[in-house]
Amino acid sequence: MSKGLFVSATGTDVGKTYVTALLVKKLVQSGLAAGYYKAALSGAECQNGQLVPGDADYVRRVAGLKQTYSEMVSYVYENAVSPHLAARLEQLPVELSRIKKDFYSVAAAYDYVTMEGSGGIVCPIRYDEEQQLFLADIIQTLRLPVLLVADAGLGTLNSVVTTCEYMQNHNLPLAGIILNNYDENQFMHRDNRLMIEKLTGRPPLAVVAPGCTDLALAAADLAALYREID
Ligand SMILES: Nc1ncnc2c1ncn2[C@@H]1O[C@H](COP(=O)(O)OP(=O)(O)OP(=O)(O)O)[C@@H](O)[C@H]1O
Ligand SMILES: [Mg+2]
Repeated sequence: MSKGLFVSATGTDVGKTYVTALLVKKLVQSGLAAGYYKAALSGAECQNGQLVPGDADYVRRVAGLKQTYSEMVSYVYENAVSPHLAARLEQLPVELSRIKKDFYSVAAAYDYVTMEGSGGIVCPIRYDEEQQLFLADIIQTLRLPVLLVADAGLGTLNSVVTTCEYMQNHNLPLAGIILNNYDENQFMHRDNRLMIEKLTGRPPLAVVAPGCTDLALAAADLAALYREID
């Protein structure tokens, strides 16, 4: 049976794609069948009249995946705004049924599915008269544990703790925390690592330095974070 993990972050541009690529690469290198999925991507670049989902393209290149863009991302928007707003501008509202169908197709083809979120944990995916769908609804529907990527620098304690509180309030299970752009020589980064453990009860599973190409987490420990997809 396939297993899945949802990668979120304390905000947009914090490093979900960068860290996801390292996770998927590690699984692939240890011989596991790993796939990637993202429900909605906004801010896609238009190349030769086609929208290219940059996140999927990056993960595919780094991890050496064979998936096509359309298998990897269900909704691709050109406007670099929250998916609910891009969907309104481009008149392409997200349907939860399509996300489920596409996610389960990836799960049928790969043993380990890493799903990247959009933005941070609070992200409206669709917000119109007909329907309101948040990222948390999708995570709950797919019943995935959440790996939280946080920046190692200033402001991270507030964003990690508020994200964890929101997750608890919405019954989203935390698989672990990864600190990105971590510099061991910066005393604030070292302190943030310790304080995150004190404030959340969870020591970061790994830290990722700028330019890191190999995640410092054993493949077996990483694989153990994924939950059976039902
Ligand atoms: N550890 C790192 N070392 C070097 N560059 C990094 C690192 N982490 C992130 N970056 C760079 O920072 C930028 C933002 O990271 P990334 O695209 O992974 O964020 P994201 O959370 O996936 O953003 P989005 O919300 O748009 O999906 C990218 O250009 C990425 O290459
Ligand atoms: Mg991304």
